[in-house]
Amino acid sequence: MKPVPQVFLCLVTLCGLTFPHINGEVVITVKEGSDVVIPCSLSSKENIESKLFDWKKDGDKEVFMYEGGLTYGNGRTGQDKQFVDRVSHFQDELKNGNASIKISKTKVSDSGNYTCIFPHLQPSQTFSIQLVVGVSTKPSVMALNQTKDWTLLRCVVRGASPKPKVEWKDDSGDTLHAKEPKVTESRGKYDIILEATVTKTGIYRCVVTQEQIGRQGHNTITVYCGAKPSCRDSGSCTGWMVSTWIFLLLLLGLLSLIAGYFFRRKVLKRRRSPTVNQQQNEESEGIQVEQLLSNGR
Ligand SMILES: *[C@@H]1O[C@H](CO)[C@@H](O)[C@H](O)[C@H]1NC(C)=O
Repeated sequence: MKPVPQVFLCLVTLCGLTFPHINGEVVITVKEGSDVVIPCSLSSKENIESKLFDWKKDGDKEVFMYEGGLTYGNGRTGQDKQFVDRVSHFQDELKNGNASIKISKTKVSDSGNYTCIFPHLQPSQTFSIQLVVGVSTKPSVMALNQTKDWTLLRCVVRGASPKPKVEWKDDSGDTLHAKEPKVTESRGKYDIILEATVTKTGIYRCVVTQEQIGRQGHNTITVYCGAKPSCRDSGSCTGWMVSTWIFLLLLLGLLSLIAGYFFRRKVLKRRRSPTVNQQQNEESEGIQVEQLLSNGR
């Protein structure tokens, strides 16, 4: 696992406030559902309380506009409905030239390129920030079909964003040769099904990697037998193996109980014998003393 440490930390803490640069552009990563601050500040730190600044997404969507105290929902119209009641600015920061905005309850559809524009400044200023709203889900794994020679494994990833890489790996971490993944997309979220056929007993892992947001998740499935001749019936193979194991465990338990019983008996016997001898000694000593005493009389 090689996550970009900063981004990873960010996802863990849900801060959404790290700024790794990719191709010189600021990229912010955030987990879907959490709030995010998109930064934009004038290096001059001049007061912008009476100025105009405009936030757009992907060039044309109106995210937020501030003009001398008026904002969307407060004296201005024209905001894209995607952002209504979800975007706010930081009033107290305006005097420091800080035009950052907060988007609450982020959705995958908020992912994109944001620009912060000061059209009336000389020269006019534009800042660009990329937002990635991520969803990481644990894959589910199952054995679809089983014969004496092979097992068909299926891994299902639902609603992940951005698009993850899905792989089947074996015990030693090698990637298995899998079928072409079935990928469906809806509103930026991806469902992926990946199937692979395995022929050996082992623990197999479906690994889901989202490099862009530094996330990796996996789930494992244990496949018994495969090509083992002991598994004749397709499908019943796993169940058969499990019941054999349970039977063996029970047998082992019973054997250890019996062994324990005999061991205890042996120990008790050994302990009891010296005690008896000692008592006899003491008794005979007592007799000897009595005899001595009676002899003295
Ligand atoms: C601008 O304001 C936001 C919100 O308070 C803050 O997180 C950010 O650090 C500020 N930016 C600068 C450059 O001060």
